[in-house]
Amino acid sequence: MTERPDIVQYRADFPILAAQMHGKPLAFLDSGASAQKPRAVIEAMNRIYESGYSNIHRGLYEISQNLTEDFESVRSKVAAFIGAPSDKNIVFTRNATEAVNLVAQSWGAAHLQEGDEIILTEMEHHANIVPWQLLRDKTGIVIKTVPFDERGVLDLEEYESLLSHKTKLISLVHVSNALGTINPVNKIIKIARDFYPEIKVLIDGSQGVVHMPVDVQAMDADFYVFTGHKLYGPTGIGVLYGKTEALESMPPYQGGGDMIERVAFEETTYKEPPYRFEAGTPAIVEVIGLGAAIDYVSQIGMADIAAHEKALLTYGTEKLRAISGLTMHGTAPNKAGIMSFTIEGLHISDIGMILDQCGVAVRTGHHCCMPLMARLGVEGTVRASLGLYSNRNDIDQLVEGLEKAKDLLS
Ligand code: ALA
Repeated sequence: MTERPDIVQYRADFPILAAQMHGKPLAFLDSGASAQKPRAVIEAMNRIYESGYSNIHRGLYEISQNLTEDFESVRSKVAAFIGAPSDKNIVFTRNATEAVNLVAQSWGAAHLQEGDEIILTEMEHHANIVPWQLLRDKTGIVIKTVPFDERGVLDLEEYESLLSHKTKLISLVHVSNALGTINPVNKIIKIARDFYPEIKVLIDGSQGVVHMPVDVQAMDADFYVFTGHKLYGPTGIGVLYGKTEALESMPPYQGGGDMIERVAFEETTYKEPPYRFEAGTPAIVEVIGLGAAIDYVSQIGMADIAAHEKALLTYGTEKLRAISGLTMHGTAPNKAGIMSFTIEGLHISDIGMILDQCGVAVRTGHHCCMPLMARLGVEGTVRASLGLYSNRNDIDQLVEGLEKAKDLLS
């Protein structure tokens, strides 16, 4: 497959990609950790700070009214972007981690009891493990895990065998941040529904929404979470999508201003979802930035971004496989733009440091997936992750850097 010139032209929209690192062109291959920001996002946020900033939901004056409207319009934008039925299904959080914690602490604490079972997978990010462990410590729930095979593909037979009348929730990652596997979430949800329709399913879409079109209704997820900063938006803003019935069954997560109807010392009443879950002044300008990011990727088209990254993934995988001693971790047939690998005899941190000197930015380590690394039998990996602006030069620079690392370190 050839590189798509229609997508590559968008690289110029990202000012930082013109920068150098150690005098070399920056080959930014760490979008999985956090993506770079297009000018449209940076300018949308600056515009607010320069000429339209105030608090929202509170002021009767024009600036506040306008910004409140812009802020709430992003809720509708997010809903449309992920195929949610209404803006009322969209809760703004700090990030995906907070969204999972919100579900665990609110839905979990209200609906789960000692002995109830939840199912995770062995490829979860710590953000989809630790919140459930905290809940387990409080309630006595049982956590079960679905294994994956040597390619990084979930064992669906094992998954089915874990389902029982005690299963209350399945929580799993859409796309593995460490392996790149795109999990068959529609099928996994259908299996759960067929077993018992009341089982809830949460999908961690942090690496999902960034690599492909997502439709939460077609997927039939009860909850879908993601973060803004991996979607070319700012840090400090994440999203929890929840089905209406699920959100309505949940008590507040945090208390404070903006989430109440009426406060008295005797009794306080709360707003409807999603506002019930948004205590305090929200990340106003970050929401505006997220809206600009969604406009930006939507104008390119998520399907085209997916096709571009897929072609580059094929190119990169072939190039990396040609390096002797390199083991690719994550070889599932259905993968997003993430290449995780180790090289025999070389320490991953040493590789990372030499790549840095070559202008190549990658992440090295366990990628917040220690149980996954334990399953692979490695301490960590080197991970090159693609974004819509990635190109063949980035991959070629990575391969050159790896050859250099081999020369220097072997
Ligand atoms: N979860 C982010 C990553 O995969 C930080 O690197």
